[in-house]
This record gives sequence, structure tokens and C-alpha cells, in this order.
Amino acid sequence: MLTFLCSLPILWQIGLLISVLLGGFKAYLWYTLGVCTSTKKLTGKTVIITGANTGIGKETAIDLAKRGARVILACRDPKKAAIAKDDIIRESGNKNVVIRQLDLASLKSVRKFAADILKSELRLDVLINNAGCATIEKTLTEDGLEYQMQSNHFGHFLLTNLLLGLLKKSAPSRIIHVSSMAHAFTKTLDLNNLNSELSYDTGTVYYYSKLSQALCTRHLAPLVFNSGVTVNCLHPGAVQTEIFRNAPSWFQMIAAITFPLFFKSAKEGAQTTIHLAVADEVANVTGEYFSDCKIAKTSKLAKDAGLAKKLWEVSETLVKLKPEERHY
Ligand SMILES: NC(=O)c1ccc[n+]([C@@H]2O[C@H](COP(=O)([O-])OP(=O)(O)OC[C@H]3O[C@@H](n4cnc5c(N)ncnc54)[C@H](OP(=O)(O)O)[C@@H]3O)[C@@H](O)[C@H]2O)c1
Repeated sequence: MLTFLCSLPILWQIGLLISVLLGGFKAYLWYTLGVCTSTKKLTGKTVIITGANTGIGKETAIDLAKRGARVILACRDPKKAAIAKDDIIRESGNKNVVIRQLDLASLKSVRKFAADILKSELRLDVLINNAGCATIEKTLTEDGLEYQMQSNHFGHFLLTNLLLGLLKKSAPSRIIHVSSMAHAFTKTLDLNNLNSELSYDTGTVYYYSKLSQALCTRHLAPLVFNSGVTVNCLHPGAVQTEIFRNAPSWFQMIAAITFPLFFKSAKEGAQTTIHLAVADEVANVTGEYFSDCKIAKTSKLAKDAGLAKKLWEVSETLVKLKPEERHY
């Protein structure tokens, strides 16, 4: 066999080696893929999913609707949300799917969304902070915060705080942050540069936003555990979605060829979120970071309780959280 392989032209040998390596990598991805195995029904439960019109959020919505939950799609674009709602109802057979407008890059919109929910919903069992973006240019929002940082972290931070009272009333309830392994790509978190006041780098802003979600998960979990609310965060994997829609065209071209080969589908990428939303085995697990439906290691920085507390306090100030809005 070896003699036969060695007798092949060198280009064939290289091609064969690459195929074997890629095949092995694909097999590894398949073997380590986490799948939610819980068959739990969610009849009578209410779930909010931010960014539910596409990608991981939409697949999460389909699964939780199939389980009988009332699913609230918290989306910024009503047209996209309406199309997604029709798809989710058709695929799940559950008509209890509603749209509520939410733009996380506007504190006013977050406050209006939360006020509507508190007025109209009797309970909230699961809050899934899934929406996220990766932008390439520094942009400030109407609130003077950095756009990517506000969409991914500050908006969800305010939303979580405003809905915490209802989550407590509905306990046992769960808060889930869709963070990322990218939280570990930064070795520092400069609290004076949270909104790129000193310098801007698009990658760093994304890492900061995902690290902030991991730190706030850690900080909030012990504050609310006795009231029956759990808080966890997760990495969904490398998932083929629209998350790189703002990337340069050369990147999009490479992505179009390679992502289908090596990235998870959106349905596969939704598995860890679904696991955290429904599985009985995680009912009392809190303050953790998950990947492929298992607890995973975070970066050292994400475990820094002192930093988490400071970030929490700075975030409270930046989103102008009022003392009477603190429910912990
Ligand atoms: N895909 C990956 O490989 C990967 C890896 C690690 C972590 N994640 C995380 O997974 C989460 C879901 O992303 P995805 O991969 O499913 O990406 P996606 O397909 O681009 O979906 C992102 C969703 O977030 C919404 N969104 C973005 N900014 C928003 C804002 N300011 N207000 C309200 N909604 C907003 C989008 O709404 P529009 O459609 O209206 O823009 C969309 O519904 C994100 O938090 C992302 O950081 C993804």
C-alpha cells in the first residue's frame, strides 16, 4: 500500500494527504457535536429570544415552539420578523408565536420593549439573549455608546435587569446569554475603553462584548440563585449564519466555500442554547459557560470576580439603570 502511494505523482500525494486531514477534522467535529437530547415540553411557558428572525435565534425559536412554548420574537426589523414568524409557525405547528419590536442599539427601544412585556405578559420562564453583530466601523449609537458593544452587551444588560422582576415571579426561570469562545481572544478588558473611547479595533470590540456577557453571567448568578433564577452563557460553535454579513467581500468568498464544509448549521449551532433552556439536568446549574451542551472552560479573565463587579457597576451607570430597577 505504502509503495503504491509513494509511486503516485507528488500532487496526488499532497491532495490525498489534505483530503485525509480535512476528513479527519470533519469527523472530529461530527464526533464532538453537542446535541440537546431532552424531550421536555414547554406547554404553558413563555420564552423571549432576541434576534430570532435568522440564524441561531430562529432555529432556537422553531425548537422551543415545537415544545409548546409561547415564543416572543424580539427583533429589530418588523418585516424580517414577520417572515420568520410565518416560517416558525409553519415548521413548529405552534401559533403561539408573537413579534415584539426591539433594537438593542437603542436604550429607549429596550425600555419600551421591556415595558410592553411587563404590561402584557403574566410570566417569563426563559430569556435568551441571542442577538449579536460584528461590525467593522466605529459607530456611536444615539446613546453615545459603541454600536457593537451596545447591541451585544449593554442592550442585553439593560433588558435583563428590566425583566428580572418578572423572571423572579415566574421562577424557576432561566437567563441564557449567547456569548462566544471569542471572549477568550482578549487578555485585558479596559473599563475606560468599553466604548472605544481611547482606541478602536473591530475584533477587540467583539471580544469585549462577548467577555462582558460572560463576566455579567458570573456576577449575576449568585445574586439571584436563591430566587430560583439561573444565569448561564454559551459558545454555540462556529456556525454558518449571517454573522459575518459586514465582513469584506474577499472574506465572504472564502466563507462561501469553506463554511459549509466545516461550520455547524444554524440548527446544530442552536443545540446548546436549547439544552440550557429546557434540560432538567441544568435546572440548578448557574454561572457557567457551556459549549456543545457541556460545561466548558472560560478564559482566566472571565473568572475575575472583581472585574465582573466593576463591569457590572460601569454598565449600570452607562445604561442609566435606576435604583428602583434593581431586582437583585
Ligand atoms: N455564527 C457563529 O459562528 C457564532 C459564534 C459564536 C457566537 N455567535 C453568537 O451567536 C449569536 C447569534 O448570531 P448568529 O450567528 O445567529 O448571527 P445572525 O444570523 O447574524 O443573527 C443575528 C441576529 O441578531 C440580530 N441583531 C443584531 N443586532 C441587533 C440589534 N441591535 N437589535 C436587535 N437585534 C439585533 C439580527 O437582526 P437583523 O437580522 O435584523 O440584523 C439577527 O436576528 C450572536 O450573539 C453571535 O455573537 C455566533
